[in-house]
Amino acid sequence: MNNKPKIAVFASGNGSNFQAIADAVQAGKLKADLALVVTDRPKAFVVERAKKAGIASFAFVPKEYDSKQSYEEMLKEKLQSLGVEWIVLAGYMRLIGPVLLEAYENRILNIHPSVLPAFPGKDAIGQTMASGVETAGVTVHYVDAGMDTGQIIAQQSFAINGRDQRMVEQEIHAIEHQLYPATLQRLFNK
Ligand code: GRF
Repeated sequence: MNNKPKIAVFASGNGSNFQAIADAVQAGKLKADLALVVTDRPKAFVVERAKKAGIASFAFVPKEYDSKQSYEEMLKEKLQSLGVEWIVLAGYMRLIGPVLLEAYENRILNIHPSVLPAFPGKDAIGQTMASGVETAGVTVHYVDAGMDTGQIIAQQSFAINGRDQRMVEQEIHAIEHQLYPATLQRLFNK
């Protein structure tokens, strides 16, 4: 019997968090069935990563659709036809709309490179550095209709300690690549 949760990862860019998830699945540390990568940017590097990892990917171009509602209807059908149960956002640069929020209520997750509720939205690391705060970090949260406002599931922070932005970014990504797969594993096995 296969009772592993079926997940789709949504990404728009590099896909290092997708990679960490795929590696954790491959290593048996994350017991999930990684069914699909969805991207809104056909040329994103995550597509290469998916191919290499042997995971199916699906790219769409949002502006070829009339509205967010119409491309989300299309995505919903695609995900449901594959039996996808969870949507895992990993650098997906679009807000999720009502169609997917209703179809996947409390089953959409995101990772964000700040200690939410501080610094939601774009360039969270830049915002963190510019503000002069002493700590940076990462949050995994449920997705709701707002920008990085859903219920927090896990957070990890660290002292910036005079480090420059590049070093802080490196530390954040290192934390993300551990925290996301570990949090998913905890959540799916509740
Ligand atoms: C990560 O920093 C994540 O927290 C944010 O977007 C970035 C995606 O990086 N939401 P990658 O594409 O997974 O490398």
